[in-house]
Amino acid sequence: MCSIPITEINFIVMQTINLSEKLSLFTDHFNPRVVGELNGQQVKLVKFKGEFVWHHHDGEDELFYVVKGSFDMHLRDKVITINAGEFLIMPRGVEHKPVATEEVEIMLFEPATTLNTGNVQNELTKKELKHL
Ligand code: NI
Repeated sequence: MCSIPITEINFIVMQTINLSEKLSLFTDHFNPRVVGELNGQQVKLVKFKGEFVWHHHDGEDELFYVVKGSFDMHLRDKVITINAGEFLIMPRGVEHKPVATEEVEIMLFEPATTLNTGNVQNELTKKELKHL
């Protein structure tokens, strides 16, 4: 007997997710899309180009995995370059600012509650993320 209620099964979609295919569905920058959810965390895809805003997250660690391209994560005391095939975990509370001179494609893994601009709210803030 299956003990998972039917209503919950409806949300479990067992299929592979192709990152390139999902990334081909949008072209804008600094506007994350949700492509997966598990354990209260979300898997998001985003493209960066240009300079983001300095911010931090009080209660959330963020993982940035570079799918294609590279970008610089500016911290107050140093800059860390993240290349394709690499990821960086940004601990909660640490101020950071992503800067991408060329377009970069990124997979994020972070709690569903994470706001892209953290403690800052401005025109770059995305409160409602689209699911792909
Ligand atoms: Ni952040």
